[in-house]
This record gives sequence, structure tokens and C-alpha cells, in this order.
Amino acid sequence: MSLEKMGIEEKKEKVLKLKKEKNALILAHNYQLPEIQDVADFVGDSLGLSFKAREATQQRIIFCGVHFMAETAKILNPNRKVILPDIEAGCSLSDSCSYEDLLEYKKENPTTFIVAYVNTSAAVKSLSDCICTSANALKIVQKVPPDRNILFVPDQNLGEWVQNQTGRKMDLWPGECYVHVEITHQSLLELKKRFPTAPIVSHPECERAVRMLSDFVCSTEQMISYCKNHPARSFIIATESGMITRLKKEIPEKEFIAASTSRCACAQCKFMKKITLDKLITALESDRFEIDVPIEIRKKAFLPIQQMLEWSV
Ligand code: 13P
Ligand code: SF4
Repeated sequence: MSLEKMGIEEKKEKVLKLKKEKNALILAHNYQLPEIQDVADFVGDSLGLSFKAREATQQRIIFCGVHFMAETAKILNPNRKVILPDIEAGCSLSDSCSYEDLLEYKKENPTTFIVAYVNTSAAVKSLSDCICTSANALKIVQKVPPDRNILFVPDQNLGEWVQNQTGRKMDLWPGECYVHVEITHQSLLELKKRFPTAPIVSHPECERAVRMLSDFVCSTEQMISYCKNHPARSFIIATESGMITRLKKEIPEKEFIAASTSRCACAQCKFMKKITLDKLITALESDRFEIDVPIEIRKKAFLPIQQMLEWSV
């Protein structure tokens, strides 16, 4: 039967069958569409997905997320085929720091310690001293030798949050996530009026005014444990709306309200939403699109990732 004639459940069955036949592991980020999360072997945040990619023994890793995540998987486990179902699934935050611009900065500031958020290209990672994710950024920055100046790339909001939490001064690259900065202080105030007892949980990529209004700021995966352990019944979630799917699945007895943005009722990352069941089927059938990282970049980029894994335990 052709894909056009199939319903969602039939497509999901097809994915599960192909996954076995092709000896593939399906990894999905928390922002993926519900049907993609349903067929994944593991759903998580950038840090959790990196660990799963590193341990994978299957022939193929099908990465349902964005380009920098698939590249990180390839760097961590170069002997597997890493497939990203849509090559256009990029990340505007990652694009805000180019290899050339960072190289220029490095030439002018040769002794600065560069902490790069995982939302960067493999080439940018190769110029960095340590990688971090939103789950371990505080820990990583605290481990940087105190006599070194730090440049934090590319998210200025996450960098500012880390700076405030740790008291460690850093130079901040002027990048931001277009999805998180659209979540406004005003929209949260309005939701708080409607749900006065619901704690606000936000991602550190949100702007300062949003973070300051929040009860807890954390990575997407840490949102699960916070909401599970907190006595409240309802939560306002200030991040990409795919997170609501994951939270509802993990904690069905509680209510999750997606924060709205200046443009729409809930925050949506157009890059994360590029991955569909049809593209996932094509990826499994024909290895489209295989992600490769040139060996010299891969070797250099592995070192700051390894540093992160050592410092985050
Ligand atoms: P997490 O690592 O917290 O899942 O965040 C990834 C991301 O892209 C946030 O926009
Ligand atoms: Fe990049 Fe923002 Fe999308 Fe995350 S939500 S993948 S940071 S554009």
C-alpha cells in the first residue's frame, strides 16, 4: 500500500517493522511530533540522546531531531550510520555562530576558554574547549579553571542564566533561539492569572524576564522529574510545545499548559517539526539523509564532548 493511503497507525507499524529489518535505533528529541515519539526507542533531551547514541550497537541510528544532534551522534559513535530524516532540520541558534567567526574570535583571544552549547555545528565544536547542554551547563562552567576567561557560545540567554546562577563572569555570544525568545513575560502573566497555583517551568533559552517569573528553569528532561515530584496538579510549561506530549505521557494524572508566544498559541520549532512519519519511513528504507562529519573535524570535536562527559558526572 502506498504511503498516501496509509493511516497513522499503519505508518507506525511500518516504521517498527523496518526498524527491525534495518537493525536501526530510533532516537527522538522531546520536541518531536507525538507519532514520532511513539515509535522511538528513546525520547529525551540533548544530553540523554548523546549518551544513547554513544552506546548504540545497532547498524543505524535514525535521529529524529535536528542536524547538530545527528552530528553529535556521529562524533560519539562514528562506526554507525547516522541518518537524519530531513536534511533541512537545522537550528537557527546553531547557525548564529559560524566556524569562521569563532575562528576569528579565537585568533584575537587565544587564551579564552570556549564553552560551546551542544546546539552548535561539529565545526564550531572542534574549536571549543568544552561542550555543555542545558542539563549540565552549570556544572561545566563551575569546573573551568578559575584563572581562565570564558566565552560562552552561542546562546546568550542560557549563558546569562549560567552566569547568574554560578557567579562566573563570561563573554556571551549574541545568539538566541527564535522559538524560546518568542515566549513573552506578558503571555505568562496572563496564564498565571488563569492558573494561579500552577508553577511556571521554563527552559534557560528563554529571555531573562521569563526566567525571572519562573519557579524552575531547567533542561527539557529535568522538567519531567520536577513536575513528577512537585505536589502541584497543573504546570505552565515555557518551552517548545512538543514537550507537552512527553510530559502527558510520563505524568498522565497532571495537567500541562503550553506557554503561548507573541505569534501563536504555543511555541513550535519549525525545524523539529520537519520530521514526519513519511520521512522516517523513507529514512529507514533508503538511508536518507546520511550524516557524515569529516574525520579531522570529528577528531577535534570529540575532545570537548569527551571533556563534557567527564565533567558532567
Ligand atoms: P534540551 O537539551 O534541554 O532538550 O534542549 C535542546 C534544545 O534544542 C532546546 O531548544
Ligand atoms: Fe534550535 Fe530553538 Fe529549535 Fe531548539 S527550539 S532546535 S534551539 S531553533
